[in-house]
Amino acid sequence: MKACYIEQFGDRSRLTIGELPTPQPAAGEVRIRIHAAGVNPVDWKIREGYLNDLFPHHFPLIPGWDLAGEIDSLGPDTSRFKPGDAVYAYARKPEVQHGTYAEYITLPEAYVARKPANLDMIEAASIPLTCLTAYQSLFDAGALQRGQSVFILGASGGVGSAAVQLARHRGARVAALASGRNAAYLTQLGAEKTIDYERGDFIQTFGEWMSEGVDLVYDCFGADTLARGKMCVRDGGRLVSIVDPEGGAGLAERDIQFRFVFVEPSSAQLDELREMIEAGDLKAKITATFDLDEAAKAHEMIEAGHTRGKIVLRIP
Ligand SMILES: NC(=O)c1ccc[n+]([C@@H]2O[C@H](COP(=O)([O-])OP(=O)(O)OC[C@H]3O[C@@H](n4cnc5c(N)ncnc54)[C@H](OP(=O)(O)O)[C@@H]3O)[C@@H](O)[C@H]2O)c1
Repeated sequence: MKACYIEQFGDRSRLTIGELPTPQPAAGEVRIRIHAAGVNPVDWKIREGYLNDLFPHHFPLIPGWDLAGEIDSLGPDTSRFKPGDAVYAYARKPEVQHGTYAEYITLPEAYVARKPANLDMIEAASIPLTCLTAYQSLFDAGALQRGQSVFILGASGGVGSAAVQLARHRGARVAALASGRNAAYLTQLGAEKTIDYERGDFIQTFGEWMSEGVDLVYDCFGADTLARGKMCVRDGGRLVSIVDPEGGAGLAERDIQFRFVFVEPSSAQLDELREMIEAGDLKAKITATFDLDEAAKAHEMIEAGHTRGKIVLRIP
């Protein structure tokens, strides 16, 4: 099969397009013919070797954890799908080698869900990783309820764009931190308050909006933004980060609960997201598409750290 892969860690020049063996589904697995693969920051971090201590990695390594495609064949002991079914999935397996920048992948059935009927393959491939991350962060770790408030740091990227929409759909008040060029975009997604991190101290602007602090700060950026964002949580509230596992230091005396989230595959949550998408409550937000052969260009764009919404690769 055609695939984009690396044979050692390194920069974008390591991305190679070539032929690799087509995988065969084991018991409990389905094989998917991939039509489109979402591009995420984790893809370039894996390419550089930054996650090598977290999961076993093997070469040749195909990056990519997001897909939309169709069921191609079934392994033994599978029951939920038939060949030809249109599906989408978050494809993180326990070992990093067989990703989604390829024509085929095999996955446990439990990772896979039916594709939203109103999205094409490109749109559907933009959903799983970011929307599952936002869902598990806001609702599982963050326990966000109707009528509560959330401040999302790094709100215009892949995860943030999903989080703003999901929080609004839940009935929460949303403040969103990004550069000023994304203010109108975030308002259109449902943010009540947009704050530009390039214009002075964002804590002051935030405080003019909600002086007592929000129920939940959701950190999608880390570093100094997280350090200052902590001050925007109300006493007794919550802080969730998807970037910094150590981000909760110094919060205990204010009775603030901290959780670090690393997104898990879940076909049940993908089913729930599909219902929201088909009802028009959650939209795919795509800023650029590239052919598989142009994966290096897609990595250049995602590495810059200013993607609005998502980048997706077309798999021929
Ligand atoms: N733990 C997990 O399970 C998990 C899952 C998904 C992602 N992640 C991580 O979460 C992070 C976000 O992912 P993503 O896909 O949303 O990334 P992305 O699409 O690249 O979005 C980056 C966002 O950060 C904003 N930003 C840039 N500089 C900023 C600053 N100084 N202060 C505040 N915001 C700033 C950008 O806004 P502007 O464009 O306006 O600058 C944009 O909204 C990445 O580090 C990714 O690896 C973790």
